[in-house]
Amino acid sequence: MSEVTPASNPPVAPKKMEDIVALCRRRGFIFQSSEIYGGINGFWDYGPLGTSLKRNLKNAWWNDVVERELIGPDGTAVDIVGLDSSIIMNPKTWVASGHVGGFNDPMVDCKESKSRYRADHLVVLGAVEAGARLYAYIENDDEQKAQAAKSLAKYEKRDTLDPARHVLRAFPTITAEERARTFGPNAKEVGTLTEARQFNLMFETNCGAIRDENSLAYLRPETAQGIFTNFWNVCDSTRVRVPFGIAQIGKAFRNEVTPRNFTFRSREFEQMEIEFFIRPETADEWYKWWRDWRFAWWQKIGLAGENLILREHDRDELAHYAKVGAGTSDIEYRFPFTSPGYGELEGIAHRADFDLKAHATHCGKGEKMRYFDQEKNERYFPHVIEPSAGADRGTLALLCEAYTADSSRASGVYMDFSPRMAPVKAGVFPLVNKDGLPEIAERLFKDLRKKHAVEFDEKQSIGKRYARMDEAGTPFCITIDHDGAASGTATVRHRNTQAQERVALDQIPQFVADRVGD
Ligand code: GAP
Repeated sequence: MSEVTPASNPPVAPKKMEDIVALCRRRGFIFQSSEIYGGINGFWDYGPLGTSLKRNLKNAWWNDVVERELIGPDGTAVDIVGLDSSIIMNPKTWVASGHVGGFNDPMVDCKESKSRYRADHLVVLGAVEAGARLYAYIENDDEQKAQAAKSLAKYEKRDTLDPARHVLRAFPTITAEERARTFGPNAKEVGTLTEARQFNLMFETNCGAIRDENSLAYLRPETAQGIFTNFWNVCDSTRVRVPFGIAQIGKAFRNEVTPRNFTFRSREFEQMEIEFFIRPETADEWYKWWRDWRFAWWQKIGLAGENLILREHDRDELAHYAKVGAGTSDIEYRFPFTSPGYGELEGIAHRADFDLKAHATHCGKGEKMRYFDQEKNERYFPHVIEPSAGADRGTLALLCEAYTADSSRASGVYMDFSPRMAPVKAGVFPLVNKDGLPEIAERLFKDLRKKHAVEFDEKQSIGKRYARMDEAGTPFCITIDHDGAASGTATVRHRNTQAQERVALDQIPQFVADRVGD
């Protein structure tokens, strides 16, 4: 997530997260997991519309990455094959990958409120002078931020804060002495926040009947390692040759210290990852190509506006495996809760030969596991460019981008999904439930349904049916009225403009197919 320093330009995203969350709940996009029992922090369920939206996103990724022709930087087709590896793997995998030793977040406990925070998510507000009181809050939490500012002003008996004296600092940068005079979020006493301790994010489980250290296993924290450990199997069982990629969509689990911002930071989420294996000397060219293609892809599926950015990492931000690489960049989206900053949707990293070498070493076969390049007649560990995206963050970005308040319509809002992403492509309605209109509408509905996700609705007034479809983000509403029944036509209402046009009934399947893509 982007930094804590207040930016000079004012927020540009007027959408309110609580409105988006409310619509998601009301219309069945996203629910709290096990809501009837009060939910469980960091876990979410997708309702009927949300499931379709997320599936459309994953299908678009799979089609565009694995199935369709993709032309690479040298003008030839890029070779990518699919994989579906298991969630629980031999625990040695996670020793080799570095997750057992190093997949940690710095964690801070509040002794008073018993809350737990990620140290790098906390910021501290207060005067710079020695002995001054300091107030910690979770970055981007507007309520906590306002409370901290209010408490500080009250303590110093002032109406407003003084930007020259009252500064914001990242919690990990303050000293132990400063921590002792800091109020934690929601704490009544000072000095209740502990020193940051490292906390491993992997969920543990046991395999088999006996629960001891020999049966210890982990839920995978990324899908990538299933790809690396299968690299040799894929090479042996298919005709792939470097350069080629292996793609996988699947669940990943991280015991996040502070899950928050709706589905953005969850404990169970889905990743869409590609490990693309290349000759080391081509890393620069492939890295740039993947970075640019992935950015264009997110734009193509509906994040075309100024809320999407591509951010190249600074050298000191790079992960251990990427230090010597061609680079790392993030594709970031300005969510209402990160605005004016951005949150990561996808990372593109040159992982060098870190993972293949690590697995070759840990499984005991070492250099024997090097890839044999027939064309060049040489052995080496391929380098890897990894575009790693989150399906839940992608879905959340699509929801935030689509949410469009419009007081001129009954629903007060419509969801501006691209037709390819829209959960429902068209609604089919008889204007009234008589005079043969329902029969014509139902025939058209059945015809469209052979190829597209469409809905038939004959309940309530036509205005209410349009409103329901606007909230679902359905691009077209097709209504059979009396004129249409007489002339073999229907009205097609366009979601965003609400403009209507009359289209011949036998042309409608092609009309829809031309506009929704696939
Ligand atoms: N194999 C590399 C890897 O896992 P990452 O940046 O940790 O890299 C990749 O994760 C993507 O997975 C992120 O860009 C994000 O979209 C998604 N992701 C990571 N942690 C997440 C979480 N706690 N909740 C939701 N999505 C998450």
